Amino acid sequence: MAVDNTRSEADRVRIFDTTLRDGEQSPGISLNKQEKLEIAHQLARLGVDIIEAGFPIASPGDFEAVQEIAREVHGPVICGLARTGFQDIDAAWNAIKDSERPRIHTFISTSDIHIEHQLQTTREDVKGQARAAVAHAKQYCDDVEFSPMDATRADLEFTAEVLRIALDEGATTINVPDTVGYSMPDEYAAMWRELYRLVPDLANVVTSVHCHDDLGLAVANSFSGVQAGCRQVECAINGLGERAGNASLEEIVMLLRVREAEHGLWSRVETTEIARTSRLVSRLTGYQVQPNKAIVGRNAFAHESGIHQDGVLKERTTYEIMDATTIGLQSNSIVLGKHSGRHALRKALEELGFTVDGAALNTAFKRFKEIADRKKNVTALDLEAIVSDEMRQSESAFTLQSFDIEAGSDRSPFARVRVELPGGESAEGEFTGDGPVDAFFSAINAATGREARLKEYHVSAVTAGRDALAEVTVLLELDGTTAQGQGVSPDTMEASGRAYLRAITNALADSPVAEAEHHIDAAAKSATP
Ligand code: KIV
Ligand code: ZN
Repeated sequence: MAVDNTRSEADRVRIFDTTLRDGEQSPGISLNKQEKLEIAHQLARLGVDIIEAGFPIASPGDFEAVQEIAREVHGPVICGLARTGFQDIDAAWNAIKDSERPRIHTFISTSDIHIEHQLQTTREDVKGQARAAVAHAKQYCDDVEFSPMDATRADLEFTAEVLRIALDEGATTINVPDTVGYSMPDEYAAMWRELYRLVPDLANVVTSVHCHDDLGLAVANSFSGVQAGCRQVECAINGLGERAGNASLEEIVMLLRVREAEHGLWSRVETTEIARTSRLVSRLTGYQVQPNKAIVGRNAFAHESGIHQDGVLKERTTYEIMDATTIGLQSNSIVLGKHSGRHALRKALEELGFTVDGAALNTAFKRFKEIADRKKNVTALDLEAIVSDEMRQSESAFTLQSFDIEAGSDRSPFARVRVELPGGESAEGEFTGDGPVDAFFSAINAATGREARLKEYHVSAVTAGRDALAEVTVLLELDGTTAQGQGVSPDTMEASGRAYLRAITNALADSPVAEAEHHIDAAAKSATP
């Protein structure tokens, strides 16, 4: 992006991405370490200022992912979330300490609803915990963020008291969340003005907004906070997050960019990376982007009515307030075919931001060839889908070896499958079902010896055309754990089988038993000198 010398640092809004923490708390999302790392690298390319990489105390998997991101992702501040307990803060610090720019983010509720019912404690205790937590975090790290959770439903005088304590102990960023998405834009701005009056020292630190979208106001509230003086926005790609989600990163960033002349505020985000980041996150989380979603929905730049089409053909700005290329749409012309070699594939992948060498390049090339044999042109979108698909393949996964499905209008659908089990041996299963998909998934259950229950099944095409790659997302439940998986293939049933097996693998990895085993493993390892 061209550097505008008239921009002042005081008007710069820091973009704090919480896709990997608040976003990952969305039901059914279960990213593995490799997937989280890939998203974090892409967030760095996007130019976010801070990546909240996870909640390290939550699980050993979360801890390891945050640690890996802290070690490998350069550029943004890497932040770990912690409640006020010292164990949480120690875990956060241990996970992020290898980052060039670590941050500990600690929080405690200030609303009476939370204090009485959730924390079951007193306001005095909350003040004590806030003080101790920030002081403890400061022993490790200069950069400490403090959040009074559910502050928009709290007594403002009390929240102000807690913020004074956090500032006394050295907090460098103060984030005031609308945890349950209850606030309205005027109200949220008024809250900030009052806090600035009650706590003058807020002028010496970065103030931050964190708004949830329960009433569809997350972006409006966040922007209101920014207009009131805040210079950090906590947001997530595609608006992911608890319940209705967080403020959507792409909407905030484009609001800053498109209306900069009026409000004078700006961010350092490289907007041409937005579309790719949105696709990657959607693909890896299994959360589809609604077609009419602002900025990144597939219809955001589509014109259906004749009048609009006519206008845009004559002059784009008649019905478009931004150019699709500024968010990275339509800017890539990569097309490979079955005669393209390894070198061309590597170059194309590099252009897309993937560094693939050695064994990974061989695997990618093999997969590319299989697909190029069945599909004439392999585009940038196809390559992205293929690479993400390969990335999901973990070592301890169930994999589809072969399948056979019979279906017709006058007989019961039948499926037979052969699956490679995590240990390397093969197992077969068969089933006669209500429909071909039911027969197929039930045959997989039989082969894997699991009783998974399908909850959602989505099929979409990566590009237009009858030879498009199918991308399938499956959400299932296995022994009380809900998990999703995706699969990509020119064959819809193969993509479905891959997705279903990955969802089973993810459910097993996320099950309480697996977590407990991992704890025992981790404890055993740390006890070993
Ligand atoms: O919504 C919220 O209050 C949070 C805090 C942890 C910042 O996510
Ligand atoms: Zn939140």
